[in-house]
Amino acid sequence: MFDINTLLRQNIKNLTPYSSARDEFKGEASVFLDANENAFGSPLDTAYNRYPDPMQHAIKLRLKEIKGLPVRNIFVGNGSDEAIDILFRSFCNPGVDNVIIVPPTYGMYQVSANINDVQTKKVLLTDEYQLNLEGIAEAIDTHTKLIFICSPNNPTGNSINREDIETLLANFNGIVVVDEAYINFSRQKSFIQELTEYANLVVMQTLSKAWGLAGLRVGMAFASEEIIVVMNRVKPPYNVNEASQQLALQALQNVTQVNDWIKETLIQRDKLVLALKEMDFVLDIYPSDANFVLVKTTNATGIYNYLVDKGIIVRNRTNVELCEGCLRITIGTPEENNTLIETLQQYK
Ligand SMILES: Cc1ncc(COP(=O)(O)O)c(C=O)c1O
Repeated sequence: MFDINTLLRQNIKNLTPYSSARDEFKGEASVFLDANENAFGSPLDTAYNRYPDPMQHAIKLRLKEIKGLPVRNIFVGNGSDEAIDILFRSFCNPGVDNVIIVPPTYGMYQVSANINDVQTKKVLLTDEYQLNLEGIAEAIDTHTKLIFICSPNNPTGNSINREDIETLLANFNGIVVVDEAYINFSRQKSFIQELTEYANLVVMQTLSKAWGLAGLRVGMAFASEEIIVVMNRVKPPYNVNEASQQLALQALQNVTQVNDWIKETLIQRDKLVLALKEMDFVLDIYPSDANFVLVKTTNATGIYNYLVDKGIIVRNRTNVELCEGCLRITIGTPEENNTLIETLQQYK
């Protein structure tokens, strides 16, 4: 049985969170002399002299409409990278607990674990880039707090089989984190619908990919109220700045534009795949549910350096386990993709 009290670090259970000026007074007032801000304004066209809403209420109300989830199940962070770090800090005792990661996968799970001095148990994906459920079951011990699953997975691009994730959710007493940074590009449904079913599920999404706001650093975690309460207690008080909150809210009104870009990205992805198939140094192109493709080549580093020389940067993943010879290529604008294709066609 999942019991958050057996998972939480003792220091977090005992924590009295920072109480900010904006937490202590809510309501209407005309004179704010409670937060040591500059009352005159900012030396800019827009005023940012006031601290932002610590709980990002306006953004959460909009996310509630878009995602169909109550505000109490929504955490907003300074990128979803912040949510990853907060999960470590809330649940993993440094030097004692461990988490399971399933490489090849997003690199920040390992980095965050290292920063927090938490051991990672690595259970490689299968050759089809799916979960090795037996391996994961064997790796779990009494100190395993979190399992990170990225779906669609970075850098492989494929979605992880839904039933396999559900098997983990049903059998693991710790938290299963499903990172859906690329879900907007996927043929698969989000796991958000499963939140009512599984108390140990955390779904992460971000405004950095399909929403086109990587520079604003806004990410989300969706989970049971008891998990969200903990994450809010542990986060820095003003973790999402005022400019990002305002711009994210504005962007979240513009669903149509984002959906158009998603459609165009998928069309462009198909075109790129067709063109790559014709190139003799391409050995394999893995099926993608994301805005990038993983391409196995005869000489990843040679092609990478050739492209750099031409001013085109892709991601060389050849040193990543199970990705030998692979380049990860993000789908760009039609012009960028054409430039890439034409340049690759000249590679010898
Ligand atoms: C799988 C995955 N999760 C999370 C992130 C980070 O998202 P954010 O920009 O919201 O921190 C990335 C960024 O590349 C990613 O690939």
